[in-house]
Amino acid sequence: MGKKELRLRAVVAPTETVIVSAYDRDGKADACTLAFYMVSSHVPPCVTVAINATQRRKTLKSMLESKAFVLGFPSVGQVREADYLGVESGYKTDKLKNIGFTAIEGKTVHAPIINELPLSLECEIVHTATVGSHMQVTGEVKRILADESILNEKDRVVLEKLRPIIYDEEEGIYLSVGDKAADAFKSGIELKKTLEDTKNDNEHS
Ligand SMILES: Cc1cc2nc3c(=O)[nH]c(=O)nc-3n(C[C@H](O)[C@H](O)[C@H](O)COP(=O)(O)O)c2cc1C
Repeated sequence: MGKKELRLRAVVAPTETVIVSAYDRDGKADACTLAFYMVSSHVPPCVTVAINATQRRKTLKSMLESKAFVLGFPSVGQVREADYLGVESGYKTDKLKNIGFTAIEGKTVHAPIINELPLSLECEIVHTATVGSHMQVTGEVKRILADESILNEKDRVVLEKLRPIIYDEEEGIYLSVGDKAADAFKSGIELKKTLEDTKNDNEHS
């Protein structure tokens, strides 16, 4: 089959859905849903989110004012609540209260942890940069809080237990994580070895 050029857009691949939360000046917890999220550093651990700065996002305002945020990971069972937090604005109503979500202040940063979310990263803002319509906000992870029910015996997060929400902008749908495809850093090493062996065999034949 041939290849086709597509209309220019940034999102083609599916992304993980996260909920970012921050306190406003009055101490009210704001939260909104984001699909533009990435791990941006291992040492120190940092995450970056991209938030539209040309539109009014109350959560972005609160994040910048408090210089902190919490990145929360919802589970597929919370997909309706996650979608709601992405279609309503904190300027109009108390979104968290409306869906029965509660928050407590983080230990390391002045930002709200949403109790109902199974995994939360307390982040201190260390860098911002604006590219086009979006402001990239990088937070250094200062503390990670996880429900015991999503952990294995080594305290690693098990995706099958967390059941994160995958957002597919192409079709405008949410998905859950599918089957395991391969072992990371193993299937590529095996291929690398096979290629090297073939090259050596060819050189010596
Ligand atoms: C699935 C989904 C993903 C979203 N991803 C982003 C994003 O990455 N960046 C962004 O600026 N807005 C994103 N939004 C939109 C905001 O969540 C939305 O504008 C929200 O109402 C802002 O709320 P606030 O004004 O209370 O902060 C997303 C919405 C949904 C439903």
